[in-house]
This record gives sequence, C-alpha cells and structure tokens, in this order.
Amino acid sequence: MQFDVFTLFPEIFSSPLDASILKRARESGVLSVRLHNIRDYATDRHRTTDDTPYGGGGGMVMKPEPIFAAVKAAAGGEQGLPIILLSPQGRLLTQEVAGSLLHFPRLCLICGRYEGVDERVREHLVSDEISIGDYVLSGGELAALVLIEVVTRLLPGVLGDPAATFEDSHARGLLEYPHYTRPANWRGWEVPEVLLSGDHAAITRWRREQALRRTWQRRPELLQRARLTEQERLLLEQWQKETDNDTG
Ligand code: ADE
Repeated sequence: MQFDVFTLFPEIFSSPLDASILKRARESGVLSVRLHNIRDYATDRHRTTDDTPYGGGGGMVMKPEPIFAAVKAAAGGEQGLPIILLSPQGRLLTQEVAGSLLHFPRLCLICGRYEGVDERVREHLVSDEISIGDYVLSGGELAALVLIEVVTRLLPGVLGDPAATFEDSHARGLLEYPHYTRPANWRGWEVPEVLLSGDHAAITRWRREQALRRTWQRRPELLQRARLTEQERLLLEQWQKETDNDTG
C-alpha cells in the first residue's frame, strides 16, 4: 500500500515511520510512504504557502495553488485515487473506516495547518475528509500518522499473527478482554484461575464475557452496534437489573 503525504512538515514523519511495525512494513515492501513538501510547490520568491483570510479575522489560511500543484505532480490525474484531507471537520476515523480504506492500493493524505485550508481545496481536489477525534491538533500530520498506522496493521503480512487484529478492541464492536502473563501470583495479585485451567472453551467464554462487561461499563454506546448472541443480551439485561437494584 502506498501513501502519498502532502505536508509542510515532513520531518514530523521520520521517527514514527522508522520504528516498530511501520518500519518493518516499509522494509518488507508492504508499505510505502512518500512525503511531499507542499512548500516545494510554492512559486513566489518567499515560498509562501499561507495567507490572511478574506473577510478578516485572525490566523492564516493555507493557499490553494501549492497544494493543487503538489498533488498534481505526485498523482497526476489518476482515476479513482482517494485524496483525503485530515481535518477536525472530517468523518470520524474508526476501525470500520480503516478497513474500508484497505481496498485502495494508494491513498493521498493532505495535512492542513494553521486555521485551515482554502475551501476550494475541499471543493475541487479532496474526495474524502477524515478526523481522528473531536479535538483540534495544530495540523493534520499526527492524524495522518494515526491513519497510516491503523490501516497498515490491517494489511496482510504486517502482524506476525494474522488473528491478532481480530481480537483487538473495536475489531468486533467490543472492547478487548483483559490480558495476563507470568507470574501467576505477583505481590499477592492473582491471575484469574480460569486462564490457568487449560480449558479452552471456558477461557473463550470468560474472555467474551469480560469483553462484554468491559464494553458495557466503559463504552455502553458501542453495544448498540455490536453483534451479540441471545445469551449475551440476557447477560446484559441481568447486569443492568443488578445495577438498577443496587442504585434503586
Ligand atoms: N487536524 C487538526 N485536528 C485534527 C483532527 N482532530 N483530526 C484530523 N486532522 C486534524
């Protein structure tokens, strides 16, 4: 998978792309990230990439010409190529959205800065706009890195164990169950007995119930969309009744 990233700060990307999973994915050829400095496409003597907003008000706005020129130089007129603007106004990045981007062999990511980008970039260049959460960063660079990381983990051959992402929080609509490793008793804090039992069916049941309970406690809104069995729904009702009794 190839990412073409358009940014005024390519240096932000160096160390995250040069460690751990992203480094290995790049070395194995599964992932390629090309960084394009938008400033290289500014044509005036001062290499201006931003200007004051029409209508007044504070802050600076990224000019459209260098962004259009950078994308044109890197991507030409490639048909169907997604051009994604990272901005707090975009649709929210979820595990599901990341999964839907896997189908594309190549993605362009534009990182906005300052107060924003000239609206004509949105209207005439960009095909999708993505936010990583309801908060404001100084620019889209960290958001682009998050998107690259989330998508790359899902690419075949990137994680050692192909089942690893299947149990992840959010992969199946629930938060993940708790994990333990040796020692079984540390400072008197014991690992749940079922995990030491060797009874795989019981372990699977326990993990599913823990995932359900954790989601119910921390992110109940996720349960509306999770795929639950009849038995799990009954369990939820039972927990809810117990809480109502305790608080009522
Ligand atoms: N740029 C600034 N804030 C952002 C956010 N929350 N998501 C994506 N890009 C951004």
